[in-house]
Amino acid sequence: MTETDWILRRRSIRKFTDQKLTAEQITILLKAAMAAPSAMNLKPWKFIVVQDEENLSELRKALPFGKMEAPCAIVVCGDLRSLKKVVQERFWVQDCSAATQNILLSAAALGLGSVWCGVHPIGTLEKSVRKVLDIPLGVNPLNVILIGHPAEEKPARTQYTEKNVCSEKFGNPWEQ
Ligand SMILES: Cc1cc2nc3c(=O)[nH]c(=O)nc-3n(C[C@H](O)[C@H](O)[C@H](O)COP(=O)(O)O)c2cc1C
Repeated sequence: MTETDWILRRRSIRKFTDQKLTAEQITILLKAAMAAPSAMNLKPWKFIVVQDEENLSELRKALPFGKMEAPCAIVVCGDLRSLKKVVQERFWVQDCSAATQNILLSAAALGLGSVWCGVHPIGTLEKSVRKVLDIPLGVNPLNVILIGHPAEEKPARTQYTEKNVCSEKFGNPWEQ
């Protein structure tokens, strides 16, 4: 067991029990999300917590690869409305992705399962999710994170390969 093995336990979980999340669990996930790094510390994120069965069902209809039944979804959005300069808008995807990963890792740490369902930059998906959740223009849905108690188990793993790493300059093999 190394210091980062808990990160390897995060896997995409796509089967969930009916058990709902507690308010406390959701707060922990949101606090983790808003602990993420953010360019210029602008924190352009907004989070929509969806637990109503009808809204969850509409989201499933909107997402071709997000049809899994989960008791909770957190939709991570970038809110560009108050950003004054074009340069400030440039990093919203990175900021919201960092927040998303914090949610996924925290869910795993709580014994919950989760899966990131991509929305942005697929315009048709953005439009459908926007419609289901009344998201105004200027606020962009990045993804829908489905979360619940896992009804499947997956082994912890890394997908480490030296082929993806260079030493000092691009193209030099990394060997250890
Ligand atoms: C940007 C992004 C979009 C994704 N979209 C979906 C999706 O729509 N549906 C889904 O089931 N999984 C989706 N995934 C999860 C990936 O399929 C998953 O992370 C990958 O297969 C690796 O498996 P792991 O998460 O268990 O390590 C997405 C992941 C990312 C980062």
